Amino acid sequence: MGRLIVVSNRVATPTETKGSAGGLAVGVFGALKDAGGVWFGWSGDVVSETVANAGPQLVEEDPVTFATVGLTRKDYDQYYRGFSNATLWPVFHYRNDLARYERDEYAGYRRVNAWLAHKLKKLIEPDDNIWIHDYHLIPFAEALRSEGVKNRIGFFLHIPFPSPQVLQTIPPHEELVRSLCCYDLLGFQTRNDQQAFHDYIAREAHGKVVESGENKEHGEIEAYGRKLRTGVYRIGVFPDEIAEQAARYESRQHVLDLKQSLEGRKLIMSVDRLDYSKGLVERFHAFEQLLEQAPDWRGNVTLVQIAPPTRSDVASYKAIREELEREAGRINGRFSGLDYTPIRYLSQQYDRWKLMSLFRESQIGFVTPLHDGMNLVAKEYVAAQNPNDPGVLVLSIFAGAAAELSGALFVNPHDSAGMAEALQTALGMPLDERKARYHTNMEALRRNDLGVWRDTFLSDLASVPQPT
Ligand code: G6P
Repeated sequence: MGRLIVVSNRVATPTETKGSAGGLAVGVFGALKDAGGVWFGWSGDVVSETVANAGPQLVEEDPVTFATVGLTRKDYDQYYRGFSNATLWPVFHYRNDLARYERDEYAGYRRVNAWLAHKLKKLIEPDDNIWIHDYHLIPFAEALRSEGVKNRIGFFLHIPFPSPQVLQTIPPHEELVRSLCCYDLLGFQTRNDQQAFHDYIAREAHGKVVESGENKEHGEIEAYGRKLRTGVYRIGVFPDEIAEQAARYESRQHVLDLKQSLEGRKLIMSVDRLDYSKGLVERFHAFEQLLEQAPDWRGNVTLVQIAPPTRSDVASYKAIREELEREAGRINGRFSGLDYTPIRYLSQQYDRWKLMSLFRESQIGFVTPLHDGMNLVAKEYVAAQNPNDPGVLVLSIFAGAAAELSGALFVNPHDSAGMAEALQTALGMPLDERKARYHTNMEALRRNDLGVWRDTFLSDLASVPQPT
C-alpha cells in the first residue's frame, strides 16, 4: 500500500499532536504514524504573497512530513472567513439566516483550492492514497484531477450535510455537488448526512444511487459522468486513553481548586468552541429555568461553561459572543448570592488533559448543540468518568453522537423546559442507573473508537479501483 497524504485546512503541528490536540488531529496523526506520509494544509498564518508562494514549509518528524503554506490576506478573507465560514458553515448547520453569499468569495474559495492542489501535487507519488478533510476543501479533488493526478482520493465531511432544499440556498450548489463527485469515496458522520447527499444526487442531479449493507450505509453513486462510493464513518475517540488521562490528573491543583470553590455544590460542565451551532444561549436559558422551577437547586448547582472564542472576525460570531455574555450576566445577576455564582463562563482555551479531569469531577456533561456533525466532547465526557461514580451525559438529539450514545439522557435543545427537566433527572439519578448508562456508552465508544474510524475509511478507499 502506498503512503497516506492527508489534507485539512488546519494542520496540527508536531507539538500539538503530542499535547492538546483534538480528536481529529490525534486520529489523523495516528493514521500517518502507522502508514507514514504527508499532512498538508494551512499553517494558520496570514502572510505576504511572496511568502505564500515560497511554501510549502516542510517539517520532518519521521515518518510524517508536515507540509504547510501561509495564506495571503485576500485568500484568508475570501476562502476561509468568507465562503467557508460565512456561507458553507452556517448553511451546512441549517442556519441559512446567518449565511451570506458573495460571488467573489466563492471565486476565491475555488482559487485557493486550486492553488493548494497545485502546491500539493509536487509532493504526491504515484501510489499514494489521498484523504481530504472537511468543507473548506470540497473542490480539492477536482483541482487535483485537472493537474493530472490519478491517485485514489477520499473525502471526509466532519460537519452535517444539509437536506437538498437547504443546500440549494447556496447559489452554486450544483457546482459544489459536482465537485464532490470527483472524489472516489465520500465519508459522512451519520446515516442522515449520507442520505441527504444521496437525496440530492437522486432528485436534483438525476443520478443513480444504490444503497447496500447494514443500515444501507454503503452507497454506489453514478452522477455527472463519474462513479464513486459513499459511506458512514463515525469519528470516535480512544476512550481508554482518555480515562487514564482523566484519572491521572484528577488530583492536580486545578481540580482541587475547583472542588474547593464549589463547596460541595453539584457541577454541570459544558465545553464548546464559541459557535452559534452549539446552542449555548439555549443552554443558559435551560439552566435558568432549572433554577426557576426547582428553587432547591439555587445555590446548590453550578454550570461551568468553557467556550474559547473562534472565527471572531466573522460577524455572526461577534454577535453570539455578545449575546452569551449578556445572558450569563443577566442570569447571574438574578440568581447569584454573595457566595454563589450560578454560571461560570470562561471564554478561554484549556488544555485537553485539564478538561478531561474537570469532566471527571462533574455530575453532568451538558452537550446541547442545535446541529453538530458528531461532537467529540460528548464522547470525551463519557470516557473521562470515574466508573465507580460516573456523571450523566445530557445530550442533544441533533449531535451526531446521539446515534451511538444510547446511555445518554436525550434533550431537544429548542425546548428549554425539557432540558431543565432532564437536568433535574440527571442531578437526582441513582448510582445504579448512572453506572448502567455509563457502561452502555463506554461499550459503544470502545466498539467504534478512533482507530476503527480511520482504518475502515482507509481500507474502503484502498479497495476503490485506481482511477485511470
Ligand atoms: C470544526 C471543523 C474543523 C475546524 C474546527 C475549528 O470542528 O469541522 O474543520 O478546523 O471546527 O475551526 P477553525 O475555523 O478554528 O479551524
